Amino acid sequence: MNRVFKIAPSILSADFARLGEEIRRIEKAGADLIHFDVMDGHFVPNISIGIPVLKSIRAITRLPLDAHLMISQPERYVAAFAEAGADSISVHTEACHDLSAIAAQIRKTGARASIAINPETDPDRVLACAGELDMILVMSVHPGFAGQGFISDSLDKIRAIRRDLERRKLDLDVEIDGGIKADNIADAAEAGANVFVSGSGIFGHPDYLEIVCRMRDQIAGI
Ligand code: DX5
Ligand code: ZN
Repeated sequence: MNRVFKIAPSILSADFARLGEEIRRIEKAGADLIHFDVMDGHFVPNISIGIPVLKSIRAITRLPLDAHLMISQPERYVAAFAEAGADSISVHTEACHDLSAIAAQIRKTGARASIAINPETDPDRVLACAGELDMILVMSVHPGFAGQGFISDSLDKIRAIRRDLERRKLDLDVEIDGGIKADNIADAAEAGANVFVSGSGIFGHPDYLEIVCRMRDQIAGI
């Protein structure tokens, strides 16, 4: 298959009182991306972090920043997140009327365009505009909180998405987000995901280097 695998720690599970130090530790652990979860208390029943925090992180790391906007009306904020330094921006299918328009809006800022889908959402709408995207994000928990149990049905969805992309010779990243740990990352990779978000799976472990290496070992050779 020879797909490039990327591990994306979600800083939602980091210690925000020591965020700079946490970022140094995940850099040293060999993280490929920093997953940045934005919640507005409206699209999801929780509020997290936003533009000023992303901007501060941009100033202290060269790792790509992967902004996951779990917000209503994301089109109002795409430019601000790109300006603050997001390298990729995911918006939710469930929050957008016109996926092609928002994908074009994201790409116009220079960021990579991604559409996310919730566990209940049919992937057809996102697949219909896959040619205009850089990534599809498949939620494997209900968005809003870190530390939830993995919804294993999401593996079938990833399989169907990857199959469809391959049939159309579209080489997009497929990111899986929610409940990813060292013991299920290989299942996600086998199903066709190549970007793995992990919050509590990494930050809940005392040694980030050890857990990231263990995750990489699990997917090596897939
Ligand atoms: C959930 C967020 C996830 C979350 C992942 O709404 O989008 O990125 O932080 O955390 P874990 O890996 O603990 O499920
Ligand atoms: Zn996320």
